Amino acid sequence: MKFSLYHRLSLLLVLVFITISIIFFFWMEQLEKQARYESEQNLHLSLAANIARDNPILQQGVSDHQALKELFHNLMVLGPAFEFYFLDPQGNIVTHSISPSLIKRHRINVKPINLLTQNQAPLPIYGDDPQHFTRQKIFSAAPVFSDGQLQGYLYIIVVGERYESAYVRQESNRIGQLSMVMLIGALCFLSIVMLGLFAYFTKPLRQLNKDIKALKKVGFDLTKTNLASWKQNSDNEVHQLGCAFKQMAEQIGSQLALLRNNDQQRKELLADISHDLRTPLASLQGYIETISLNKAQLSTEQQKYIDTALRNSHQLKRLIDQIFELAHLEGGQVSINLENFNLTELLYDVSAKFSLQAKAKNIQLTVEPPSVNMMVHSDIAKLERVLSNLIENALRHTHEGGKITLKMKENAAEQCQLSVIDNGTGINKDELAYIFDARYRASNATLGKEKHTGLGLAITKKLLELLTIDIKVVSELGQGTEFYFNIDKAKYNIDN
Ligand SMILES: Nc1ncnc2c1ncn2[C@@H]1O[C@H](COP(=O)(O)OP(=O)(O)OP(=O)(O)O)[C@@H](O)[C@H]1O
Ligand SMILES: [Mg+2]
Repeated sequence: MKFSLYHRLSLLLVLVFITISIIFFFWMEQLEKQARYESEQNLHLSLAANIARDNPILQQGVSDHQALKELFHNLMVLGPAFEFYFLDPQGNIVTHSISPSLIKRHRINVKPINLLTQNQAPLPIYGDDPQHFTRQKIFSAAPVFSDGQLQGYLYIIVVGERYESAYVRQESNRIGQLSMVMLIGALCFLSIVMLGLFAYFTKPLRQLNKDIKALKKVGFDLTKTNLASWKQNSDNEVHQLGCAFKQMAEQIGSQLALLRNNDQQRKELLADISHDLRTPLASLQGYIETISLNKAQLSTEQQKYIDTALRNSHQLKRLIDQIFELAHLEGGQVSINLENFNLTELLYDVSAKFSLQAKAKNIQLTVEPPSVNMMVHSDIAKLERVLSNLIENALRHTHEGGKITLKMKENAAEQCQLSVIDNGTGINKDELAYIFDARYRASNATLGKEKHTGLGLAITKKLLELLTIDIKVVSELGQGTEFYFNIDKAKYNIDN
């Protein structure tokens, strides 16, 4: 039968408690008995000697056994807890105070009697009980001499009821205190045992927790951490759990490695293909452009074909360039050139680049504030690409007569916030989370389906990630959109 962890713990705890209680109970009993017998024997140590010395029947040796029997009888009336025996030197019972039918043993071992009378052993000393074949009891004894010769022993079994009650009264307080101390001791011991047991049983659980945390910390990469080894085929649930977790972690690790590998291969393939496509495409484009230069020699239909081919080749080039750029950025082998530069100048340069497009749509493209020189520390080329992508999108999604603002704002002490704001179509709230995904085009993107493939913002995000910049967007349908991010200010002012 298999027990669960909880059952094992409870069972062990109950067993430990019962064992401790039984040991404690018997120990206390033994202690109490020992103390009682010791004091009782001590109290009656000289009882036999006194009777033997003071009583005329015993003083000069025993000659009248009937008189001795009567004496024993009288003494038993006075002290009903005592049993009186007269033994010969070998220990044979000669006279006694009790009914003959009760005598089971007729010979008593005299060795304990000698130990007691000669004071040679610590109390309590146990002697044979004539009323029982094997039982031993505490006793008082004294030798009896006749004409200087050992005639026998006066042997008294001491089982004083009167003393017992007196002892119980006197000792009850002490035993009560002792019991208290013992109980507290047992409880403390039990607590320590319990703590030890729980620590022992929960150790694998703590190990498992440690393993999970360690694995999480290294991004579930098994090569970067060592997991504990768990017992295979164990009945212990924690070990089973540990084995299952380890297998799961190994499975996740291998799947992750496979995914990373596939992803890396995909990026390399994309970068290679787009790179390899560029040369034949450039050549193709060159030929088409050359032919289109001599348009006059072609028929109207041929001119139309050439124009279409030229337009398509431009779109294809743009797409291949974008795929190459994204694959290159994802590959992570892009160098970053950080420098101090004038952001205001960059904004004016980029807006100048788009001024014709803006004018064509009668869109007002402005820099704000217009005449404040903002020095920043960043990669100017990458920032220029980012701004171009954002302005290009804004121009496309802003109606004629709209407005696009490139806005700088001093933010925290070390940073400046740069925003590209338009009052165009805006983006649906549900779609905002996806617009930075490659190939994602929101529902508002109806124009230029062939030319625009949804890679611009993915490239923008990757470029900014390289500069450890986080881009954010707020948008309201029909109101406009704002993309914004923070740039580090220049470490020093070059004007000084
Ligand atoms: N300023 C904006 N206003 C409204 N919608 C926008 C704006 N900028 C981006 N979007 C939405 O986000 C989508 C993703 O933009 P992204 O630049 O990645 O792709 P794209 O412009 O459609 O194509 P590409 O950039 O490859 O030419 C766009 O299709 C558009 O729906
Ligand atoms: Mg775009």
